[in-house]
Amino acid sequence: MKILVTGGLGFIGSHTVVELQNEGFEVIAIDNLSNSSIDVLDGIERITGKKPLFENIDLRDKSAVQNFFSKHQDISGVIHFAASKAVGESVENPLLYYENNINSLVYLLQELQRKPEAHFIFSSSCTVYGQAEKMPITENAPIQVAMSPYGNTKQIGEEIITDVAKVTSINSILLRYFNPIGAHPSAEIGELPLGVPQNLVPFITQTAIGLREKLSVFGSDYPTFDGTAIRDYIHVVDLAKAHVIALQRLLKKQNSEKVEIFNLGTGTGSSVLEVINAFEKVSNQKLNYQIVGRREGDVIEAYANTDKANAILGWKAQYSLEEALSSAWQWEQKIRNK
Ligand SMILES: NC(=O)c1ccc[n+]([C@@H]2O[C@H](COP(=O)([O-])OP(=O)(O)OC[C@H]3O[C@@H](n4cnc5c(N)ncnc54)[C@H](O)[C@@H]3O)[C@@H](O)[C@H]2O)c1
Repeated sequence: MKILVTGGLGFIGSHTVVELQNEGFEVIAIDNLSNSSIDVLDGIERITGKKPLFENIDLRDKSAVQNFFSKHQDISGVIHFAASKAVGESVENPLLYYENNINSLVYLLQELQRKPEAHFIFSSSCTVYGQAEKMPITENAPIQVAMSPYGNTKQIGEEIITDVAKVTSINSILLRYFNPIGAHPSAEIGELPLGVPQNLVPFITQTAIGLREKLSVFGSDYPTFDGTAIRDYIHVVDLAKAHVIALQRLLKKQNSEKVEIFNLGTGTGSSVLEVINAFEKVSNQKLNYQIVGRREGDVIEAYANTDKANAILGWKAQYSLEEALSSAWQWEQKIRNK
């Protein structure tokens, strides 16, 4: 079966391509390389022995999307990762985010609705919950007003897919990721953040390798056990595997609703200081960090209740925080010492 992976050369997309190929799917990846490198294809090939088909297409180009689907009529499912994802940039340039994340989605769905049946997996985010009242967060927690245009594109994306499902034969699964980290254990693929990382783990590894002088810990006065913010860090390979399982569920018509929603996390919250300590342990490095004020827009804590994904998808995160941090460190060392 041929599966389209948009954003297939990006961080989560590339790991998902590997897992799809491992399960015997034929993959065609679309990416405009705006936040990834063509070399990722070689990394995937070194892991799986097979290079996925690749098309350098910008999904904002409606006619290019149309041409792609008329050329590839045998696509059985689509996993849609392609999006811009920098929260700060989305505040500065909201239209870039609305154009990229919304138009791309609409053009894909316009093509899929022509098919007698279609299967669609969407990258959503735990940001839709904002600061949830109860921990761990279930899929039924209320959606909160988005704190950034980026977060809003995820909420609008979910709404678009839900509206479209009512009147088409598109079956979808919305996957709400908590905090994806780590890299493939082979260190052949991983995260390639452009510029100054906004996420904790790439900032840690870049500081440890000497690319950044110091890590800033934003806030030590949160109402948590050690005062720092708590997140649910999930290994990207665990996340990638969940996509394959979700896709198989749709292909086998096991879904009970036209749009299903699952949290993808480990179910365990870790504080910033716990992550730093765990990193120091696995890397044998002392990390240069300082505590600074809170960062605007950060919630106090967010970790997933994963019961639904465990029970219905039969999926559970396997990797520990230490394993995830260790893989991120291997990857950082590999790309910097090239
Ligand atoms: N990484 C996270 O922390 C996180 C958390 C929650 C949700 N998500 C979502 O998961 C998805 C994948 O995230 P990621 O971390 O792998 O990001 P990424 O930036 O590494 O991957 C996205 C890929 O999409 C490509 N792309 C962007 N716009 C495109 C366009 N118009 N046409 C074609 N390709 C385009 C980029 O070049 C990149 O390779 C995104 O939708 C993101 O919003 C990510």
